[in-house]
Amino acid sequence: MTDSRIPTVIVNFKAYSEVEGDRALHLARICHNVAEQTGISIAVCPPATAIAQIVSSTDVPVFAQHVDPHKPGAATGRLTAQLLHGAGAVGTLINHSERRLRLADIGVAVDRCHSNQLTTVVCTDTTATSAAAASLKPNAIAIEPPELIGGDISVTDAQPEIIENTVKAVQKIDDSIEVLCGAGIKTGRDVKRAVELGASGVLLASGVVKAADPAAVLTDLIQYL
Ligand code: G3P
Repeated sequence: MTDSRIPTVIVNFKAYSEVEGDRALHLARICHNVAEQTGISIAVCPPATAIAQIVSSTDVPVFAQHVDPHKPGAATGRLTAQLLHGAGAVGTLINHSERRLRLADIGVAVDRCHSNQLTTVVCTDTTATSAAAASLKPNAIAIEPPELIGGDISVTDAQPEIIENTVKAVQKIDDSIEVLCGAGIKTGRDVKRAVELGASGVLLASGVVKAADPAAVLTDLIQYL
């Protein structure tokens, strides 16, 4: 890793029923324990409703799943960078495949996050959109082909070239921007391959959140790092 603000593994809890109520905190504690035991940086992306609880109860880095580009004020239902920072988040995903934003709004959101000390990870779906997102200067890009999200085939097997091409395209624009990859990642072999293809880490969800034993899956995931 070249930027210590970007975790090597980001676990997106999404809105799975497995993280409703106190179960988000329980999973966050598991992630934190594995990170402590192994020395690998792991961040969690809980639902916004659980951010403050997790921040106040654990030391795991907490990212939001989404931020809106809005300023503080009359913005009902919006998640501003200020609200996330105030809740204790250290960063946020932006433009996740399940929560897309317009390019102009991504740019505003990135700037507002950086003004509020939030690390930014912009999600993209192609090499071209990754290059466009890189021009907005986030801290990291996470390339995730939407059709592979939540499935059993890892992006590292199905589309290795999209990772290599995205790393090249992003580095050409700004080599300080890190590239993560995600979609279908579930094993240590997938993570090893992601790093071989040039990614500095992974963004994943179902493989951990829906696992019967998330600690075992996480330990397997990071075994080659
Ligand atoms: O944000 C992570 C993501 O969309 C990938 O999900 O379930 O394929 O690991 P999953």
